[in-house]
Amino acid sequence: MFTTALLGLFWAALSWAKPMRRSMQVHESRTSPPPGYTLTEPATSDTVLTLRLALVQSNYTGLVDTLYDVSTPSSAKYGAYLTKEEVEAYMAPTSQSTSSVNAWLSENGLHATVLSAAGDWLSVQMPVGTANDLFDANFSIFTNSVTGKQAVRTLAYSIPIDLTGHLDLVHPTVSFPNPYGYMPVTDVSFSGLAANVASGPCNISLVTPACLQWLYGIPTTPAVSDGNGIAVTGYIQQWPQETFLEEHRPDIDPTTTWTFVSLDGGTDPQIPADAGIEADLDTQYTIGLATDVPVTFISVGNNASTTDDEFADLLIDTALYMLALSSPPQVMTTSYGDDEEYISENLAYALCSAYAGLGVRGVSVLFASGDGGVSGLHYPEETCTTFIPTFPSGCPYLTSVGGTWLIPETAVNFSSGGFSTFFDRPAYQDTAVEDYLAYLVNTNVGLYNPNGRGFPDVAAYAVDFDIVYGGEEGPVSGTSCASPTFASVVSLLNDELLAAGRPSLGFLNPWLYSTGMSALNDITTGNNYACSNYTTGFTATTGWDAVTGLGTPNYLKLKEALGL
Ligand SMILES: *[C@@H]1O[C@H](CO)[C@@H](O)[C@H](O)[C@H]1NC(C)=O
Ligand SMILES: *[C@@H]1O[C@H](CO)[C@@H](O)[C@H](O)[C@H]1NC(C)=O
Ligand SMILES: *[C@@H]1O[C@H](CO)[C@@H](O)[C@H](O)[C@H]1NC(C)=O
Ligand SMILES: *[C@@H]1O[C@H](CO)[C@@H](O)[C@H](O)[C@H]1NC(C)=O
Ligand SMILES: *[C@@H]1O[C@H](CO)[C@@H](O)[C@H](O)[C@H]1NC(C)=O
Ligand SMILES: *[C@@H]1O[C@H](CO)[C@@H](O)[C@H](O)[C@H]1NC(C)=O
Repeated sequence: MFTTALLGLFWAALSWAKPMRRSMQVHESRTSPPPGYTLTEPATSDTVLTLRLALVQSNYTGLVDTLYDVSTPSSAKYGAYLTKEEVEAYMAPTSQSTSSVNAWLSENGLHATVLSAAGDWLSVQMPVGTANDLFDANFSIFTNSVTGKQAVRTLAYSIPIDLTGHLDLVHPTVSFPNPYGYMPVTDVSFSGLAANVASGPCNISLVTPACLQWLYGIPTTPAVSDGNGIAVTGYIQQWPQETFLEEHRPDIDPTTTWTFVSLDGGTDPQIPADAGIEADLDTQYTIGLATDVPVTFISVGNNASTTDDEFADLLIDTALYMLALSSPPQVMTTSYGDDEEYISENLAYALCSAYAGLGVRGVSVLFASGDGGVSGLHYPEETCTTFIPTFPSGCPYLTSVGGTWLIPETAVNFSSGGFSTFFDRPAYQDTAVEDYLAYLVNTNVGLYNPNGRGFPDVAAYAVDFDIVYGGEEGPVSGTSCASPTFASVVSLLNDELLAAGRPSLGFLNPWLYSTGMSALNDITTGNNYACSNYTTGFTATTGWDAVTGLGTPNYLKLKEALGL
């Protein structure tokens, strides 16, 4: 009796001093850091990490099923988008998940703040020493040999076994920052437009709104619907400064500008040295094409991640902001990307689920596919042994936009395309992609994942867009040009739908791969470039291809396909 009582006291004393160690299990790991990174030294134990925790959503399957219900033209629920609260019911963790993760944190003297309206994202700070103990991790400093980029990361981390099914991921841990940066705009000037009478207002060496309106039949008449909107995202200290309306759209009120939204310390300085090519391009070709559709510029800083500027953090901030709005803009365009190989699979899925949530709200999420052909975002800096899919274009719940040039249009060689290594091919593109795989036969076998989600979905002109930047005028190229162009087309179609009392287009792909397909200009020539030892990436052909997707917009045909 006496011995037992003493033992009990001993255990009690121990558990007051330190929480009982739970059984742990490796949750995410990678065998080595991404190419170019090497471990250079241990991270000092007092370095403070700001970690994001994603909790398992209570009904991810239901969210995705609902997404297809409201986005598939043949479905009875087509266009019946859900409210913020209804979507949050799917995305919210169960109360058991929330309480068990919070209990574990407080046992360890930690307290998390909630980042998302649905409660599925938390943020918690702790020193490296604590994180190493808590997650059986080994946070170290990794350095990229080419760019010198450094990041504090671990190659593996564990979570208590009893939190499996509750805690989805901890970030940043096994994801790495892209050492080359996230901006896909290329500065190459292709000077590709032939001056011939068949090319209308495009018979100059610079692409202008007038050229795109002519090429795609985009109307110049102002949008009329209330409550329509288009969001343009801005990252890595890119701020818009100017519009070019007086020169390129004299028919639009020259004072028309964007509404500025700042997230996480994002700013909008209006001094010439801070003009951003990407931000100027993206705002000029939405304001300049989606006539009178209100444009919101979302500038995301990186105050939340003291350790690093990782692209996924910026995307998460943006998606959570959009999800928290009661009436989000119906279109969001992003001309930045990353490569899948730097991102953890759990993180890719968690972000993709946020885009599914936006789709259920009726938002069309568009991303530029990237400017590195099949070598991810960066040709020729990145070498590769297999093709590198870009991120987040591999997420099946968004629309990825590739690039074309010349008239008649042909695939432009920098247009990124290929197949995700994380995401399986979604059913809506089964036929289109299977036809393309049959066309490829053995070409590039072993260099890509034939079961993966194929991208891009669509394309638009991507070469020599005339922009005003830093008080000067000049051409820029990249799929960065294509995404705002396609987004503007979607926005103008939404305007007509809303005016007719119909819902916005929402998640586009189930429509694009069915009744929308014949309303696109199929691009059947050209190819994208490869990487290191390989000479050719993918070739464009009849139907869907991994360079230009289903093709470029034809506004009149798209209207007809919608019965407008
Ligand atoms: C942890 O990483 C350091 C380098 O940061 C390395 O020296 C050490 O061996 C690693 N420890 C374990 C247990 O893997
Ligand atoms: C998940 O969502 C689906 C579709 O709305 C629904 O049928 C199902 O009952 C939900 N499951 C749970 C556990 O809430
Ligand atoms: C081509 O551009 C010139 C001005 O550079 C213009 O006068 C002419 O009308 C254009 N041609 C066509 C077919 O639009
Ligand atoms: C972001 O962080 C910087 C540096 O700590 C600080 O000066 C700035 O005020 C912060 N901005 C916002 C909007 O929180
Ligand atoms: C390219 O080929 C060379 C020679 O065959 C080989 O040593 C190298 O590893 C290859 N590089 C890649 C990235 O595959
Ligand atoms: C891409 O196409 C442009 C224009 O034809 C050409 O100048 C360039 O060399 C091509 N790049 C590669 C890597 O093939």
